[in-house]
Amino acid sequence: MTRAKSVANRSATADSLSEADALRLREDFPILKQLIHGKPLVYLDNAATSQKPQAVLDTLTRYYTTENSNIHRGVHTLSALATVDYEASRTKVRRFLNAADDREIVFVRGATEAINLVANSYGRQHVHEGDEVIISAMEHHSNIVPWQMLCQERGARLRIIPINDDGELLLDEFEKLLGPRTKLVSIVHLSNSLGTINPVEQVIAMAHSRGVPVLVDGAQSTPHMPVDVQRMGCDFFAFSGHKLYGPTGIGALYGKAELLESMPPYQGGGDMIKSVTFEQTVYNTLPYKFEAGTPNIAGAIGLGAAIDYVTAVGMDRIAAYEQELLAYGTQRVSSIESLRIIGTARQKGGVISFVVKGIHAHDLGTVLDTEGIAIRTGHHCTQPVMQRFGIPATARASFAFYNTKQEIDALVRGIDKAIEVFS
Ligand code: ALA
Repeated sequence: MTRAKSVANRSATADSLSEADALRLREDFPILKQLIHGKPLVYLDNAATSQKPQAVLDTLTRYYTTENSNIHRGVHTLSALATVDYEASRTKVRRFLNAADDREIVFVRGATEAINLVANSYGRQHVHEGDEVIISAMEHHSNIVPWQMLCQERGARLRIIPINDDGELLLDEFEKLLGPRTKLVSIVHLSNSLGTINPVEQVIAMAHSRGVPVLVDGAQSTPHMPVDVQRMGCDFFAFSGHKLYGPTGIGALYGKAELLESMPPYQGGGDMIKSVTFEQTVYNTLPYKFEAGTPNIAGAIGLGAAIDYVTAVGMDRIAAYEQELLAYGTQRVSSIESLRIIGTARQKGGVISFVVKGIHAHDLGTVLDTEGIAIRTGHHCTQPVMQRFGIPATARASFAFYNTKQEIDALVRGIDKAIEVFS
């Protein structure tokens, strides 16, 4: 699909799902039908991982029962079928992100591996002693540690864009950090622990005006809003399949073709080569150069099914509905006097992180679990965010399009119960 056509399609479907739609779509998710501790499951831990629709489960079963075999290697029928389906999924990812070319889509284990790939390949090629890499104060550990490792190895410096008390980037400070030594900016699109949606287009424009490439960590944004890497203008974009209603252990790295072409492989092994002698190896073309070894074939095909599913629902409609859940949830939990929301940015996704006075987040999570309500508690792999706000942990409710306002009401009743238990 051309970019213009995809944008036109989006505006044509820019309404929201209704609550009735959400209730109907829930039926596609078998796991949501079960009782936990005798209560209907209220699954509000979608930022950690989302549930899988029957279409994804069926695709995995069909793959393993009818065509399981290795790809790009066999002349036999099953290998050909698996190869076609695996490559068809690459095209689905390309369309979903609106990348220009299938060669720009590298299948990886998830966003973490995608970022490690860029740090180890592009990073080691371009970052040298005295150079700088910029990230923000709201990054997930997966967008901190690989850069820290790189900077330590290279004698380079990791610079941090600070955030305000609402959990928003301080762009003036970012402007000051950008300099002749900056080699890369790596920034989260939607924060997993604060919910902030960052103005990535602006960040990219600011970095590009200095000739600095930008990686966008889209692990949390991809499942919840339309993403268009060409419109965004990023150089790299990372996401995980398991948060996008697909299987675990699969994700993709988007990279601009000219950048990926110029980068050395990240891992060596089968399939990433054209020829090997003991003297010399000639590497394969894109994207295979970065896909050493047998990949997660079933995962990639399952991810393709997940993309088909959410595309049929409509990413715009999903985003609009989740904004309604966010507004309702924010208003409902704000009525609890001893509760403080951590992360109050003007632009937010469906994530509400909060602390309740006098109750540790883990205790709160445990009480909620007895009510069948699943939330995440802890530092959410963003310890520097906790340090920034001077707290050890938060409780976090994170929404998907199959959640309802009734489930948010159940969450509020559960928090009230916990307050009673611990008062
Ligand atoms: N990064 C995931 C989360 O936010 C695991 O929970």
